[in-house]
Amino acid sequence: MAESAAFAKGLEGVIAGETAICAVNQTQLIYRGYEIADLAEHATFEEVAFLLLVGHKPSAEELRFFKDELIANRALPGPVIDFLLTARPMLLDKSAVPMDVLRTAVSILGNLDKDSQDNSPEANLRKAKRILAKVPTIIGHMQNVIDGRDLVAHETGGDAKLSHAANLLYLMSGSRPSDQFARVVDVSLILYAEHDFNASTFTSRVIAGTLSDMHGAMTGAIAALKGPLHGGANEMAMEMLKDIMADVGEAGIGTPKVDAWMERAFAEKRKLMGFGHRVYKNGDHRAPILHALGRSLAAKDTTNPGGHAALKWFQLGEQVQKIMLDKKNIHPNVDFPCGLTYFTMGIPVPQYTPIFVASRVTGWAAHIAEQHANNRLIRPLTAYTGPALRTWKEA
Ligand code: SDX
Repeated sequence: MAESAAFAKGLEGVIAGETAICAVNQTQLIYRGYEIADLAEHATFEEVAFLLLVGHKPSAEELRFFKDELIANRALPGPVIDFLLTARPMLLDKSAVPMDVLRTAVSILGNLDKDSQDNSPEANLRKAKRILAKVPTIIGHMQNVIDGRDLVAHETGGDAKLSHAANLLYLMSGSRPSDQFARVVDVSLILYAEHDFNASTFTSRVIAGTLSDMHGAMTGAIAALKGPLHGGANEMAMEMLKDIMADVGEAGIGTPKVDAWMERAFAEKRKLMGFGHRVYKNGDHRAPILHALGRSLAAKDTTNPGGHAALKWFQLGEQVQKIMLDKKNIHPNVDFPCGLTYFTMGIPVPQYTPIFVASRVTGWAAHIAEQHANNRLIRPLTAYTGPALRTWKEA
């Protein structure tokens, strides 16, 4: 029995396991040896998904076969479609948010998957590809239900000619995105795909560590990612910017009005969503990549999401970022530019974290398989702070 380690609240700074999948530190973020900026510039999400799930860069033939497999598995089984069709009231009255509905839908997929009880590497890879293929369809159909419209291409799960990212946008809106919109979402999926022992991935490893199955581990991971301290921050970051815009108005951008809003937030000791990180203290390697992409899109985009030119949102975001850095020395994490970018693209805010799931299922699946392949039950110790020993009969 190993001697007990020092106590660290939230396991801060604790190495809780080994992984060959990803390294996250102040100087770099690498997926199986490839640096994130390299992948964001030169790879597609399908290539990165293959890299994470299989372990190497795919050959042209492996990539073609992988893409065909995903396309062939995009459509949803009847029971999941039936559930999504009944979800409209709960989504409209907000008793359930899209992350809750997505979590339940993935759980139903597990009940229907013939490999569900098989944790072998081969079965885990088959299940991972089916989940990866189907999550965008769940998101798309869910958005159709919220919008009160027919399910887009539900027989096939979308348009076989479209990439994973482009098909996600098509399923949600019914219109095929521009190449530029598709590439921005494609890169956001690359950036979101994997991040070593973050809270949702660690959740999936704890569940896999009991030798429970992939769908169960993913269901738990989705529940963890929903939280505003984790993946839910991309939605909350945009809601915060909408609050600031409503308070200061477009004319207030760049003026002390924004500083005053931030000072009030600091005085209330509010956690500003999209900022800070447990590991990155000098900035999130992913944030500038997505910020630059989103800003270049906004500069060209003349639409007025939320009633203000797209670029105004980035200008407001940059002022907020500067204040956070100057006053608190806290950098934005990937969720801040993600919220800005998806908003200026007109993606509905409550789908931001589900889109995070559509990407992170690749990292989760890789970690679940790695845990199953070389398992040790994850069971840390506690420091007891309750009452001293006493007997039941004593007064
Ligand atoms: C993701 O782990 C991962 O890798 C996650 C992720 C991934 O890819 O999987 O990167 C994705 O989840 C990114 C994080 C998204 N969450 C948010 O944006 C929520 C807002 N951020 C904070 O809640 C916070 O920064 C955390 C939770 C992300 C990290 O918190 P820590 O490491 O526990 O740091 P802390 O809360 O102890 O903060 C240290 C100090 C505190 O000040 P004091 O109380 O000591 O005076 O910094 C302050 C905090 O108050 N601080 C913030 C802040 N983040 C830290 N103050 C205001 N706003 C913030 N966002």
